Amino acid sequence: NREKKKGEFVGSVDCGTTSTRFIVFDQYAKIICEHQMEFQQYYPHPGWHEHEPYDLVDSMNECIAQAIEKLEFLGFSASDIKCIGITNQRETVVCWDKTTGKPLCKTVVWDDARTVGVVREFQKKLDEEGLPFGDNEEDERDPKEGGGYFKAKKEQTGEGTAEDGAQALAEKLKNGLGVAEQAKKEGGGDDGLPTPTVISDVAISGGKRRRKGKEALVDITGLPLSTYFSAIKLKWLTDHHPEVRKAFQEDRLAFGTVDSWLLYNLTGGVDGGIHAIDCTNASRTLLMSLKTLQWYQPLIDFFGLKSSILPKIVSSSEVYGKIASGPLENVPIAGMVGDQQAALVGNKCLSKGQAKNTYGTGSFVLFNTGPDVVRSKNGLISTVAYRLGDHEAPTYALEGSIAVAGSAIKWLRDQVGLIDESAEMDALCSHVKDTGGVYFVTAFSGLLAPYWDPNAGGMIVGLTQYSTASHIARATLEAVCYQSRAVLDVIEQESGVRLDELKVDGGVTNSDLAMQIQADIGGFRVCRPHMRESTALGSALLAGHALKLFGWDLSKPETLSEVNMQEAMYFDPEWPEAKRRKNVRGWERAVERARSWHT
Ligand code: G3P
Repeated sequence: NREKKKGEFVGSVDCGTTSTRFIVFDQYAKIICEHQMEFQQYYPHPGWHEHEPYDLVDSMNECIAQAIEKLEFLGFSASDIKCIGITNQRETVVCWDKTTGKPLCKTVVWDDARTVGVVREFQKKLDEEGLPFGDNEEDERDPKEGGGYFKAKKEQTGEGTAEDGAQALAEKLKNGLGVAEQAKKEGGGDDGLPTPTVISDVAISGGKRRRKGKEALVDITGLPLSTYFSAIKLKWLTDHHPEVRKAFQEDRLAFGTVDSWLLYNLTGGVDGGIHAIDCTNASRTLLMSLKTLQWYQPLIDFFGLKSSILPKIVSSSEVYGKIASGPLENVPIAGMVGDQQAALVGNKCLSKGQAKNTYGTGSFVLFNTGPDVVRSKNGLISTVAYRLGDHEAPTYALEGSIAVAGSAIKWLRDQVGLIDESAEMDALCSHVKDTGGVYFVTAFSGLLAPYWDPNAGGMIVGLTQYSTASHIARATLEAVCYQSRAVLDVIEQESGVRLDELKVDGGVTNSDLAMQIQADIGGFRVCRPHMRESTALGSALLAGHALKLFGWDLSKPETLSEVNMQEAMYFDPEWPEAKRRKNVRGWERAVERARSWHT
């Protein structure tokens, strides 16, 4: 008879790309108990990557059940868990049937690159046809770029709609005045009035303005067109998968990202399950306006989708519903957030200017930009970092997403057989001091930030007779660090903030060598916290915040001063600057060779 104890805890479901875990934290972010399970990966064709949707749900349920058993063994009970949060691999698309609650196909995972053709098709459409503006166009467009113009025009004349204003302008243009001349007359470019380009767009489309080219999408969503984002994958499924297509036509299709799918199943599935998506996950679909945090109808039309298939967008911290059955029956689900944003929160990067890098399957640098959507000119994504409740303003971030990090080590283990266990990497690399001039561009499915080349090919260059398995292993670790540095360089350039210290977490950070290499290549200090489950902690903090548990208030970081304060480990740069510059240059040359490989 074990002694009964009383506790107050918060649980977190973390469903990543290769495994699911359920972790129970106390108010100091101490892990009370946890359970983790890998699930099956499917690679049916080159560049494809799928999961079985029920594997995700089953692994979640199993992790919860096992962790609760451990909790009870410690003398606590399931009712000590006051709420749970969900965090997830983002962009991955799940399609299910609303009438049965059952999946219609395997998921298309975020790094699946089967949709290169879809991207090309929509790039063409964007260049040729462009996108119409939404109903509230004035709110959607920066006044300096013409957004305020039609409003101003309407206010000036006191009559007509914004479209009328545009029509009148187009008429004038048809009547002989040159575009630039007219723009000048109308005060083009300054004071919120339109530039010549805007006016000429109006004229060309007969008074109906459309945005054209890749900037049009970035304007609204913060994202470029890429195989990475959900709408492209969803479009592929509604076109190519017979069951998804049929359900789409018959209005039975429910689309969600992994957070939506888990929430739906936790809250009862076909028996009243909630169909929702949190705004951080929605910000990765290419369908949501970053400014309004609502689905954007012109984009839904552009991709040939329907709003009836989309989940409701919710904040990252509120009570969405209660768990319908199982050991945590009736426990509120109060946090939901994409895993990289969760890691930002878990690392307590809650103030503008703070950044973290998570080295998981891929590697993701996020930089908190506060209440502002910052537009990158150099290949970073603008994204929602979190929203602390239904009525709260969102916090945004700049993100550099690197598709391949831990998955390259997994590749060395599973496909090449260079190691038996990931943990052997450091030992294998310890035979050499450097890569002997070898560079490994791990572009297994093109390159994401900051290069954005879907046609880049993976390659190992600089091999000589002298090269060994150790050189290749070290080049694999270096590849992750060079890409992270490239992203951080852009962040520094664009934010004007010099990064002195990078907070890190994720599986690859278990390697001391990888972290030392990151400090050497980056030229900055790397800070590795003692408790590195930052992703799970992030969703737990958001859930706790919603319930005001433990006095946690994420809008006041000082209320988290006792959370995860165990001693961190620091790695400082040891390479001389000249060596760093020479090696970074070598990496850039290797990337140049890998570019456009598949065209
Ligand atoms: O955007 C993809 C990302 O969310 C996947 O994260 O940790 O499963 O590699 P991870």
